[in-house]
Amino acid sequence: SRRNARGFDLGDLADLDCIEGARRPFRDRRFQAAPVLGDGTRSDAGTDTHGGHDMPNPADPDDLVGHVRDATAAEVEQAIGAALPWTASARERAGVLERAAELYERDFGEILAIVAREAGKNMLDAVGELREAIDFLYYYARQCRSLEPTPRGRFACISPWNFPLAIFTGQIAGALAAGNAVLAKPAEQSPLTAAKGIALMHEAGVPASALQFLPGDGATVGAALTGDERIDGVAFTGGTDTARAIHRNMRGHLDPGAPLIAETGGLNAMIVDSTALHEQAVRDVIASAFQSAGQRCSALRCLYIQEDVHDDFMRMLLGAMDELRLGNPWQLSTDVGPVIDADAAADIQRHVDTAKQEGRLIKQVEAPNTGYFVGPAVIRVDGIDALEREIFGPVLHVATYRADALDGVIEAINARGYGLTFGVHTRIEDRVQHIVDRVHAGNLYVNRNQIGAIVGSQPFGGEGLSGTGPKAGGPDYVKRFAQATAPQTAT
Ligand code: NAD
Ligand code: ALA
Repeated sequence: SRRNARGFDLGDLADLDCIEGARRPFRDRRFQAAPVLGDGTRSDAGTDTHGGHDMPNPADPDDLVGHVRDATAAEVEQAIGAALPWTASARERAGVLERAAELYERDFGEILAIVAREAGKNMLDAVGELREAIDFLYYYARQCRSLEPTPRGRFACISPWNFPLAIFTGQIAGALAAGNAVLAKPAEQSPLTAAKGIALMHEAGVPASALQFLPGDGATVGAALTGDERIDGVAFTGGTDTARAIHRNMRGHLDPGAPLIAETGGLNAMIVDSTALHEQAVRDVIASAFQSAGQRCSALRCLYIQEDVHDDFMRMLLGAMDELRLGNPWQLSTDVGPVIDADAAADIQRHVDTAKQEGRLIKQVEAPNTGYFVGPAVIRVDGIDALEREIFGPVLHVATYRADALDGVIEAINARGYGLTFGVHTRIEDRVQHIVDRVHAGNLYVNRNQIGAIVGSQPFGGEGLSGTGPKAGGPDYVKRFAQATAPQTAT
């Protein structure tokens, strides 16, 4: 069986032509999303007569990407009642998940088009999104074959908009690999991408009663699912505060043994010391802070530069920011697309404006004036303790440190209580060891960027306020969705 997604080489003109030809028919298509329930009913989603709302393209709000009708309270109730664990053998389930991966590859043009138009993903991110989704399907299929897990029952899978296909698919594939019935709630900002994933998983052979789709918002559909006593576990990815709310809601109703797998936010730092290769570090800082318009949980939020090299390094970094091309993610030349919606743009820009009023804004790149764009920005801070919260956008905070204060920097990073990603650029091997032994983070990156973990080889997930584990794309993930195996009896 295949081990990974086929992928594309975006430096290869033939691959680019192939992508362009495949996604073109979907440039103006209007997509639809609506609840898909266990009896196989697909409601008349898109027809405006059935209520619901349009989904605008964040780069160009006049481009209406499609229409979504959210699940009603009665449909959530109906779905929970109709949910049935997947009784096929582990081998059969694995085969269906692999078939789903093949269908994702078959429909790559449509998928790349939807994620560009609904989630504002540029080509690099859209291809990464598709690949990661496919990798999750293959990887959990293999885990399913080797572990032959037994289901816990019904799982609610609640996902964020910033990986509208990859994380959405990964949670579902993990739960299905263990044989659970899944009630999938996508983020309210990305139901159209999610609906495509659901259609392909059903086409591959996942029974409707084992995979139901409930678009809607967190406070209604999400809360109804996570507070229902018939749910046996929740897989959640999103903000730390939302995870806390879900935890409270679950504990009010559910068996205390019901797992909450929560992958949450971070205040991710990078340290660049005086021995770092400037060109490489600048490139990696730009990618870590501004790729995906900074809308990755893994993104770099606070950069510490050793003071001896600060001025030279900043000159190069600010120069490199001038080269970033902002624009519609459909254009191949776009480096930085929009943020997800008007509220996000306003919130992030407010943060930048406050820094400007306080004299701490070092630079902000000019943004297009249509759509929900925020120009990448750099803000001076004394240290990571100055960051009040995760700003989920293209904003980099920069601090300096003295060589003899390195341990204080590490303590300050750890003291925030998060622990998702961390990066270090140095050419001193002992220093790498010193730092990685002390920093609390789920994913540590040395002399590279700190985003884009690869399923299977870089299991992804944080500690502390950043998540409960197990890591996504790692060997323990599917096990958490399964019943513990009976203990071996020693003879
Ligand atoms: P969010 O927490 O606002 O929403 C995530 C999901 O939770 C959505 O589907 C939402 O509808 C649902 N939700 C909201 N309130 C709920 C409630 N009370 N009950 C049940 N469900 C509820 O997050 P977001 O804005 O969609 O995503 C951005 C956040 O996700 C960032 O904090 C980011 O760091 C985090 N994230 C973490 C990871 C990771 O792997 N650790 C990956 C991606 C994103
Ligand atoms: N897995 C994603 C990354 O590493 C969140 O960027």
